[in-house]
Amino acid sequence: MYVEAFRESFKQYLGLFPFLFWKGRVALYSILKSLDLKPGDEVILPAFTCVVVPNPIIYLGLKPIYVDIDPLTFTINVEEIEKKITERTRVLIAQNTFGLPADIDPIKGIAEKYNLFVVEDAAHGFGSKYKEKKSGTLADATFFSTQWNKPFSTGIGGIAVTTREDLAQKLKKLEEQAVKPSLKEELFLKTLLKVREKFLNPNVYWSAVKIYRKLSEWNLILGSSQGYELEKPVEPPNFLKGFTETQAKEGLKYFQKENGEYKIDKLIKHRQKVASFYKEILTDLGFEPPYEPPYAEHTYLKFPLLVKNREKIFRLAEENRIELGDWFLSPIHPIKRNFHLWYYRYGENPIGEFASRHIVNLPTHERIDENYIDRIAEFLRKNKDEIIGCAVPKDYERYE
Ligand SMILES: Cc1ncc(COP(=O)(O)O)c(C=O)c1O
Repeated sequence: MYVEAFRESFKQYLGLFPFLFWKGRVALYSILKSLDLKPGDEVILPAFTCVVVPNPIIYLGLKPIYVDIDPLTFTINVEEIEKKITERTRVLIAQNTFGLPADIDPIKGIAEKYNLFVVEDAAHGFGSKYKEKKSGTLADATFFSTQWNKPFSTGIGGIAVTTREDLAQKLKKLEEQAVKPSLKEELFLKTLLKVREKFLNPNVYWSAVKIYRKLSEWNLILGSSQGYELEKPVEPPNFLKGFTETQAKEGLKYFQKENGEYKIDKLIKHRQKVASFYKEILTDLGFEPPYEPPYAEHTYLKFPLLVKNREKIFRLAEENRIELGDWFLSPIHPIKRNFHLWYYRYGENPIGEFASRHIVNLPTHERIDENYIDRIAEFLRKNKDEIIGCAVPKDYERYE
């Protein structure tokens, strides 16, 4: 009963029919499956992503081809795409990074020239806009994630939308074929949602994240990424999994209107407001704030900051109970070894690799209030000499 209500609310908001899945990665898997690709076909994606993006590509017998990112935006470097196109290329993934859409018009231009599909990875970008148009309405198909740290969260969850009728038919069938999550899985999720509501605040962030990640690694809990997904890209049983009533009920909260405004829009405005404080603080300290290209509205799911010695900054943040994010710790986060299993050759994408060695993210979520911003400001002031800036600098090699 909640699932159909959620679907309807989402459709009202975005103007497109949503196909609902267990996670964002499953929504991507379904989109790729709906494109009728052949084994060995190539999918282009940025070299600054989460490993759960190349995973479904490989599960389907396709080959991920990585393209370096733009040093200012952390999204795919459009200038580099054509160099990686071969006769096997079929799909371009335009990833929204931290709430900033990729420069999708030139990407669509390349797709037209070579007859490719464009899939938007808007896992970070629900509510973002590109030239006044909402993410999700720009490409052949788009997927969103509603996992814990995403623009709106149902605990875990994934949504696929398409602007093409032929793909919509196929996605519908795939949603119908999806395995129903077990009662145990749904119960776990319910419990986690309750725990989050009651206990999670920025002061317990570090301990909560550590416990959650450890339990997920040991496959004891429904983490965002379970141990086996990080070992090797082999499709786990029942990967094509559906959405539950629990997720839908949680998701519906974000489409309620308060004083005529959607809750999700309020949350996005909050993130943008917190980001504007960080921009001021960094400008005062003599740094350029993040680049905001004229084509996009940045929704600041995360606020990027590059530092000289990330281990040190994480340690200090933990000591001072400052919440800092770690997206992305590797060009295929969080993988640190056996890159070849994901067809990744370390050394080929210097900007994405530099970013993933030096980046931290300042939090912007709804629990960040003025007091907390003051504490972060103090932390940044104290550690000013450790800051590189909000983009990969031209002379980045001097920081290595
Ligand atoms: C860029 C990007 N795309 C896709 C995903 C996958 O989303 P999900 O965790 O819902 O599978 C993530 C996940 O964390 C991500 O960071």
